[in-house]
Amino acid sequence: MAEAVCKLCGGVGWRIIQKDELSAAERCQCAVENRAESLTRRARIPVNYAADSFDNFSNRGSKDLAQIQILLAGYCKEYPAVNPPGLLFIGEPGTGKTHLAVAVIRRLIENGFEAVFFGYQQLLDRIRAGYDPLSGESPREAYQEALEADILLLDDLGAHRVTDWVEDTVTSIITYRCNERKPIIATTNCPDPDMGVSNIERVADAGGPAHLLHKTLAEKIGMRARSRLFEMCQIIRMPKVGDFRQERQR
Ligand SMILES: Nc1ncnc2c1ncn2[C@@H]1O[C@H](COP(=O)(O)OP(=O)(O)O)[C@@H](O)[C@H]1O
Ligand SMILES: [Mg+2]
Ligand SMILES: [Zn+2]
Repeated sequence: MAEAVCKLCGGVGWRIIQKDELSAAERCQCAVENRAESLTRRARIPVNYAADSFDNFSNRGSKDLAQIQILLAGYCKEYPAVNPPGLLFIGEPGTGKTHLAVAVIRRLIENGFEAVFFGYQQLLDRIRAGYDPLSGESPREAYQEALEADILLLDDLGAHRVTDWVEDTVTSIITYRCNERKPIIATTNCPDPDMGVSNIERVADAGGPAHLLHKTLAEKIGMRARSRLFEMCQIIRMPKVGDFRQERQR
């Protein structure tokens, strides 16, 4: 069905409003809605996360989760006047990292900012495919997008086999964005010494040295990328609330 022309502005996207003696142009509601819609499409949030928002996130009776919700609402409200510019969610699987990261970018998109969702693994695969003339992926497209996106959501950082190429690629993306002060919102379940040793200890309890079972973030993405990321992101340590998916099944 063809879209009807907006009755308020005649499709121009601006309206003249009278204020006291003065008239001024104001963005019409239809333009604001169209922008949010097209930003949402371009964000390419995967279907299984598309509905994740602050409204359907429960604090599960955890004070820590409740506090994180408040902090993130504040971040969205203040954005882009936030320092550091990005967010890094660290914690175990099923604690709601991706849900919250998506909730944040959805809120920012509602506020008119541009954000793009990338799974870490998929991003690296797409960048690699760009080198292959038969893949149909145009060269450097994914790489360029990851560099230039206003806000980059990088989901499941470290969930990829480590190679020099992976380390170089992720380092160059993070370093570029850090230098340009372009925010990264990232999630990871790689343990990091900075979040307390408990995460690593627990894995170690399962038998054997922790690093053999569960590589740290620095081991997965390299020391340099890890330290730039910590510089440019506020660290959100997820509390040990257990895997929500298992709780839901009960
Ligand atoms: N506190 C929560 N309230 C509501 N749903 C949650 C919560 N935590 C996790 N979920 C849901 O559980 C599933 C796993 O959460 P996810 O964000 O993918 O975890 P993580 O990224 O930490 O592994 C998702 O479907 C998510 O929407
Ligand atoms: Mg996740
Ligand atoms: Zn209009």
